[in-house]
Amino acid sequence: MNFHDSRKHPDTDSRFSELTLLYQFSNTMLSTIRINKLTHLILTAITSPSSNLFERAVLFLRNEKSDVLQGMLGVTRQFSEGLQIIGGNDILGSRWDISDETISRQRSAEFCLQVRLTRIEIDGECPLINQIVSEHCICHSDDTLCHECPACTFIKLLCGGSFAAAPLVAREKTIGMIVVDNPDSGREISSENMHFLQLFANQAGMAIENTMLYNRIEDAHLNLREAKERLLHGERLAAIGEMAANLAHELKNPLITIGGFAGRLLKLLPAEAREHQYADTIVSEVSRLEKMLAEILAFSRKPTICFTVCNLEEIIQDCLTNCATTFEDNNISIMFSSEPPPYHVSGDAHQLKQVFINLILNSCDAMPEGGKLSITSRRSLPGSKFIITTVEDTGGGIPKNMLSQIFNPFFTTKHHGTGLGLAIANRIILNHMGSIDAENNEQGAVFTITLPLAEHTD
Ligand SMILES: Nc1ncnc2c1ncn2[C@@H]1O[C@H](COP(=O)(O)OP(=O)(O)OP(=O)(O)O)[C@@H](O)[C@H]1O
Ligand SMILES: [Mg+2]
Repeated sequence: MNFHDSRKHPDTDSRFSELTLLYQFSNTMLSTIRINKLTHLILTAITSPSSNLFERAVLFLRNEKSDVLQGMLGVTRQFSEGLQIIGGNDILGSRWDISDETISRQRSAEFCLQVRLTRIEIDGECPLINQIVSEHCICHSDDTLCHECPACTFIKLLCGGSFAAAPLVAREKTIGMIVVDNPDSGREISSENMHFLQLFANQAGMAIENTMLYNRIEDAHLNLREAKERLLHGERLAAIGEMAANLAHELKNPLITIGGFAGRLLKLLPAEAREHQYADTIVSEVSRLEKMLAEILAFSRKPTICFTVCNLEEIIQDCLTNCATTFEDNNISIMFSSEPPPYHVSGDAHQLKQVFINLILNSCDAMPEGGKLSITSRRSLPGSKFIITTVEDTGGGIPKNMLSQIFNPFFTTKHHGTGLGLAIANRIILNHMGSIDAENNEQGAVFTITLPLAEHTD
């Protein structure tokens, strides 16, 4: 359908162009689901040179929580050239579009920045805001401005001369307003223009509400999907853990038998016999497997914590003493510093020791050719209730793509590893109300453990 032939009179001409805008708007509404784009399209359409309606338009949206009208977008004719009409020959089917470049030019314009800093309180004082918000009426500045209240002064400051403001109404609630004016020509806003603005704002209100609802549904959908993935991940880990625990339990008894008999053979066989060597290998491999199974069983059991006040410095010193031969064998130098005074945490000393041993052994594994292990303990900030301990090595660090996985049970890159060391450490620290994080520096991995100080510590 083409309306062009019916244009005879200037009045008919302007009606025709208004009707075209309204048609195009409703088509645009059906194809635009992004609120940001839609608001740019709305303001660009009524300020574009082709529509020749208004020279400037401002959009305010209502913030329900703080009950203010927040300036969202301002478009001047200078920046409204970029409106594209898709399917331009068919008025009933044509719609608007706008490029990302025009959107960003409009956003960074000085006027728009000023609009975005504007907040108008809905406090029942201002006659203009009352008429818009409570009575859902369009108003003209000449009729309604009190010139005194902050809201009127605000809009006046923004618009300068006379302007018109129309409410955006959706489901009988005012969700915002559009303010228009003609600052360049100083042209008055005619009653025909006011009438059109009212019709346009009615459509815009519904369109904005729809896109907001759509965006909210999309956000909720995204959150739901993330929650579902987290749940599935947790369930999968729990199922793997249970299976591993059952398997470990079943393997334990036959392994004890194998180890026992291999040990007896070892004693019976002469030391120089080849069979003695074989039995020796069986015994040491069985003991490695037993250790692994014990770790798996410990991980799958619900841990009980025996809380006492413990000295963190002593715990770390103990761990370093226990690992002294490993450091010597691997040519690893140690640096340990703990800021005075001695820090006390409320926890299970045995389990905390397990955490530091796991971290230290991992660092040793990462430095087979030797290197440096540095451990420091300090308060996060003077007077803070938390103590931060970092364990740093020079072993080259953890590949970036693995950083998010290393705390998962059974994640390992080692031939003989179970992948439980960090999972256990993480669980222990979480049970102590603390946190553990891993990152890399230039030389190696850095593990940071944050623990709350015991109550009586200053
Ligand atoms: N200091 C470190 N430097 C480099 N990589 C590390 C370091 N600490 C941990 N990793 C990586 O994280 C993985 C998981 O460590 P985790 O301690 O959980 O298991 P594991 O050491 O492989 O086995 P185990 O159960 O015997 O401790 C390691 O296999 C290793 O790839
Ligand atoms: Mg380990």
